[in-house]
Amino acid sequence: MFEHLQPTKMDPILSLMAAYRADPREQKIDLGVGVYMDDRGHTPVMRAVKEAEARLMELEDTKSYQGIAGDPQYNEHILALLFGAQHSILKSGRVRTIQAPGGSGALRVGAELIGRAKPNAKVWVGIPTWPNHIPLISGAGLKIQEYPYYDLVARKINVEAMMETLRGVPSGDIVLLHGCCHNPTGADLTEEQWDQIADLALERGFIPYIDTAYQGLGEGLEVDAYGVRSMAMKLPEMIIASSCSKNFGLYRERTGSITFLSATPAQADIVASQAMSVARQMYSMPPAHGALLVAMILGDQQLRAQWSQELDEVRDRINAMRQLLTERIQQNDAGMDFSHIQQQRGMFSFLGIASQQIERLRDEYGIYIVSSTRVNLAGINSGNIDYLAASMHAVLG
Ligand SMILES: Cc1ncc(COP(=O)(O)O)c(C=O)c1O
Repeated sequence: MFEHLQPTKMDPILSLMAAYRADPREQKIDLGVGVYMDDRGHTPVMRAVKEAEARLMELEDTKSYQGIAGDPQYNEHILALLFGAQHSILKSGRVRTIQAPGGSGALRVGAELIGRAKPNAKVWVGIPTWPNHIPLISGAGLKIQEYPYYDLVARKINVEAMMETLRGVPSGDIVLLHGCCHNPTGADLTEEQWDQIADLALERGFIPYIDTAYQGLGEGLEVDAYGVRSMAMKLPEMIIASSCSKNFGLYRERTGSITFLSATPAQADIVASQAMSVARQMYSMPPAHGALLVAMILGDQQLRAQWSQELDEVRDRINAMRQLLTERIQQNDAGMDFSHIQQQRGMFSFLGIASQQIERLRDEYGIYIVSSTRVNLAGINSGNIDYLAASMHAVLG
């Protein structure tokens, strides 16, 4: 049977990672892969996570099955992180969370659930979006539609075009939104724009599906949750996929969650049972380790304070690199304006340079950037900024 298979195309970001690893040049820079790196170019284990792991080693006394919904305490903590511990929605009985294998697993559980609830509903995604959104959602059998999000020429969100398209979204369709730190552009909705989209969702009857994979990396844990929280105040239904890969640095532990807001508590129970049935069919139960660490950190005053301080450090470092890069390449002979980088948030920005320039940076200078011109600002550090800036100036011409 396997003779009928053809090789699939590798994810372009994974191919870029492989090419970077295989590059023998000593002076090379990885601005492609979407993980946080410290000033030594290393993706560290957070100190709070290390401490929680040490405690867990002592405390954990079983590896027995945990349950389809994962760790109940983790789910409670994630709800409080998303909505804020005092949000009225938490007392409404209309919200349910289950643990999922990373943000990706969460997105797929959400998509499968949409397929069960409304098999003909279309999912509207902004262009550009995180490339993996498309297979994760369409793989569940759902149709994808596009709405314009980022204007590559003006280097900002094309609010008018986006709102114009959203005004035409049929009732019952789903609109995918990035909660914060938009991947790949770094261009986030303002609070006012979130409110406008919430009003439109209410008026048109479309359902927001918010992917929030970077809470805390933009402006901070509270501000980054504005969209989720304000929409929950207004709307009867929505879905939120969240991830602890970035804000806890738990990438390989596959720690995520999927949250459903339903119109009534009775519907919420049905949705939760359907979500668990989806999970049971796909992977049975989520991995435990990462979620136990998150629950321990968020449930312990000292660990939580430590984590929150480390998250601040991560965010501050990224923003410092954002500023440094802008300063170092802003005065260029080509007269290109890079000031948009400073307005953006999270780990990424679009440079907005030509594809030949991206190729030259890779081929001549060993600087790896995704072809969309997305750069991971955390890949910049005090040891490579001079080389990066000089190479950029050489290539911009
Ligand atoms: C926008 C977005 N959503 C979801 C994810 C999924 O993260 P993970 O599956 O690693 O938790 C990512 C990871 O890069 C992302 O950028």
